[in-house]
Amino acid sequence: MNTRSTVQRLSPEPPTARLRPPEATDGAAVHALVAACPPLDANSLYCNLLQCTHFAATSALAEVDGNVVAFVSGYRPPVHPDSLFVWQVAVAEAARGQGLGKRLMLDILGRPENRDVRFLRTTITPGNQASWHLFESLARELGAAGERRTLFDAGRHFAGRHDSEIEFVIGPFGPARIANRRGHP
Ligand SMILES: CC(C)(COP(=O)(O)OP(=O)(O)OC[C@H]1O[C@@H](n2cnc3c(N)ncnc32)[C@H](O)[C@@H]1OP(=O)(O)O)[C@@H](O)C(=O)NCCC(=O)NCCS
Repeated sequence: MNTRSTVQRLSPEPPTARLRPPEATDGAAVHALVAACPPLDANSLYCNLLQCTHFAATSALAEVDGNVVAFVSGYRPPVHPDSLFVWQVAVAEAARGQGLGKRLMLDILGRPENRDVRFLRTTITPGNQASWHLFESLARELGAAGERRTLFDAGRHFAGRHDSEIEFVIGPFGPARIANRRGHP
């Protein structure tokens, strides 16, 4: 008997997640999700409400059976109009390892209003291996280079209260590459 294929057949399929831009009514669920995803900084609920409204075009969430299981907050920095800055990626523990973090970012990049984005920027603390793997994987998926430099230093900017934040810049990439990769976790 082929044990491997039997196990595969008997394993339940992970429930299908629905990806969409956030709305104001998602703010409280997003706030709870971020709080449950250390080492992310928990922001105020008001901040999450702004992300879900003013920044909805550059943010995305995934829901399963009506529950928010993953969220990406982002915006277009006025000083880098060709870029999407990803602020936070939060995936509920039970939903990790299914490509949701990556799919949410590709979903944002694939929207018509973000067709002119050529770079994705984020910051990552040196010790957050899961986050480094996620963004390095996204860079590979987009066929683009990734560059790093310290953006906010632990001593100089955080007064020793937070690890340094390393900026990771992915790009340049074009809309054709994103169209190819969307929906392929
Ligand atoms: C980091 C996090 C967002 C990853 O979400 P996810 O949906 O599980 O990630 P994905 O399934 O899209 O994985 C994408 C890639 O990252 C890799 N990866 C994800 N988590 C990893 C981990 N803990 N260790 C090593 N690699 C990891 C995956 O193997 C995958 O690589 P591949 O495409 O080469 O196979 C999630 O673990 C999380 O919410 N962590 C807590 C909050 C946080 O640290 N957020 C990131 C900082 S903003």
